[in-house]
Amino acid sequence: MNPGSHFAPPEASTIAPWVDGLLAYLTIASFLTTLLVAALVVVFLIRYRQRPNRHARQIRGSLPLEIGWTIAPLIVMLTFFFAGASVYSRYQRPPQGAMDVYVVAKQWMWTLQHPQGPREKDALHVPMGTPVRLIMTSEDVVHSFFAPAFRIKQDVLPNRTTQTWFEATEPGRYRLYCAEYCGTSHSNMKGWITVMEPQEFQAWLEDAGQGPSMAAAGEKLFQQLGCAQCHAGTCPPLGGLFGSSVPLEDGSLVTADIDYLRNSILNPQAQIVAGYPPQMPTFKGQVTESELQQLIAYIRSLSEQGAAGSSQAPPSGVRSDIEEGVR
Ligand code: CUA
Repeated sequence: MNPGSHFAPPEASTIAPWVDGLLAYLTIASFLTTLLVAALVVVFLIRYRQRPNRHARQIRGSLPLEIGWTIAPLIVMLTFFFAGASVYSRYQRPPQGAMDVYVVAKQWMWTLQHPQGPREKDALHVPMGTPVRLIMTSEDVVHSFFAPAFRIKQDVLPNRTTQTWFEATEPGRYRLYCAEYCGTSHSNMKGWITVMEPQEFQAWLEDAGQGPSMAAAGEKLFQQLGCAQCHAGTCPPLGGLFGSSVPLEDGSLVTADIDYLRNSILNPQAQIVAGYPPQMPTFKGQVTESELQQLIAYIRSLSEQGAAGSSQAPPSGVRSDIEEGVR
């Protein structure tokens, strides 16, 4: 498709032409405005230059003029707003059935894990023509996931989950960068995203899929950390929890999304479920961000079994809840 130029990398995602179109529109509109102002400066310089016995006619306000120069820029600015908002909302909302990839940023490396199990370092393999949603968090400082060819850039923050998505349109290898200064080796925090034909990707996934799935790894952790003993007994049950509304002790309701689960594991006293004693210890320092993602993948899988028939595709009801929770 677009091979890229000196000015921009190739357009390799569905959103890229929209971002480039918006940028072109803003650039052209700014250029035309500059041209108009510059031309008027020149015209007025000549037309109203000082001449003997000529004096400008003074006017004291003009309603039509004032309305004109208020309304015209307003309309132009509103087109900026609507064009920008339309691209932004497309960019912020992953389509239904997107493929998830869990991302952990750490000084100075990207770790990306597929729910099926394969984990990649500074590399990501994805199929062409499938929306890919990145569920991201940081082990330490603020990083930023930047894939110029896909026109996506999203901050990755510690103690929080952020997301972004893209759908690749052309097979190939594309650059991944960290776009937030994160310490000495920030400039080395980069990698490659490989876009493959769907069948090729399936083969790659099967080849790479040695280890357990994220949900299976999470289940193992769940046993090892002793979560199972309590959550089978006196603690809130976890089956069907993900995406549901949880009544809290203070009478409020909270959606059991990724951030809620994360917070409940690290900071269990913060949101006490109504009707249960506040007896859960914190697991802060005992689990890494990757392990947390596995635990969350496991808890998610408890809500997805039977609902969607596949452990990868969350049922539609769950999706919107995840999105609300992922900022
Ligand atoms: Cu990570 Cu810059």
